[in-house]
Amino acid sequence: MSKEIVLTGITTTGTPHLGNYAGAIRPAIQASKNGNASPFYFLADYHALIKCQEPERVRQSSLEIAATWLALGLDTSNAVFYRQSDIPEIPELCWMLSCVTAKGLMNRAHAYKASVADNEQEAGNDPDKGITMGLFGYPVLMAADMLMFNANKVPVGKDQIQHIEMARDIATRFNHIYGEHFAIPEAVVDDNAATILGLDGRKMSKSYNNTIPLFETEKKFKKLINKIKTNSLEPGEPKDPDGCTLYGLYKAFSSEPEVAAIRQRYAEGIAWGEMKKVLFEKIDNEIAPARDRYHALLEAPEHIEEQLQEGAEKARAICTPFMQEIRQSVGISRITK
Ligand code: TRP
Repeated sequence: MSKEIVLTGITTTGTPHLGNYAGAIRPAIQASKNGNASPFYFLADYHALIKCQEPERVRQSSLEIAATWLALGLDTSNAVFYRQSDIPEIPELCWMLSCVTAKGLMNRAHAYKASVADNEQEAGNDPDKGITMGLFGYPVLMAADMLMFNANKVPVGKDQIQHIEMARDIATRFNHIYGEHFAIPEAVVDDNAATILGLDGRKMSKSYNNTIPLFETEKKFKKLINKIKTNSLEPGEPKDPDGCTLYGLYKAFSSEPEVAAIRQRYAEGIAWGEMKKVLFEKIDNEIAPARDRYHALLEAPEHIEEQLQEGAEKARAICTPFMQEIRQSVGISRITK
């Protein structure tokens, strides 16, 4: 039996933070070491252009995200690790998919609808204000990412489930018209994947500006942990771990017995200062070795580029012939052999 294809991408608009790490990158790297799956991980830099028109930021983010995966020990002998924009077949497929995608389906996409709703908040505003075709067609590009490699499983956060559903619709429609070419992808949402809270207690997210970057220097990292918002309970007063940002983070980095022990200490009234110290040491312990490798990699961008080129080559060995098949199927090909 052929191996299951697991595929996911990260949009290159920011610096990876603890939430990205515990929720997405760490499990994906573990999966890259499992020989029963065939993982495809990529830098979604075309997706970045939808939200970010600062070229330097997109460039820097691509470098940082690639360095992060490699520093954390992604097994590139098993996983195909590439940059979306190195695969011209992806935008080509995106076009073909666009031509079988109902506009009405795209009208229902959450991200697009949220932008329209924001516009309608202000009376007299054009509902389309600031909405590009890139944003509108975002789910089609994402479908092309998945269908290009016949992805079976797509690990994503809850906010992305709708996009996988749309990719399933689009694939089914294409298969119906042109024959069975595409596997139908399935979203994998890890319920245990930590929802890590940020400095202010809301979900850790670059849009809230409350993140703790994964590879800060040790000193800055400690400072950020100390900045995490807590309540004003005094040392010795029993504290509730559930809903506590410090506890949530601790849990994402600890074994069950360690978590049970820390719950006990909350009940006994551990001081916030002490808990921050415990938490800092716990996380620092896990990420310090990768942090050194990360900074070394940033100093050797040519090594990162080489890895991405190798990944692109492996990816294109698959999608160049596949795209040939797709072109044939829609009637685009040379007239003579
Ligand atoms: N849109 C995804 C996000 O913002 C990133 C992404 C792009 C992706 N293409 C994908 C995820 C294909 C899974 C599969 O999180």
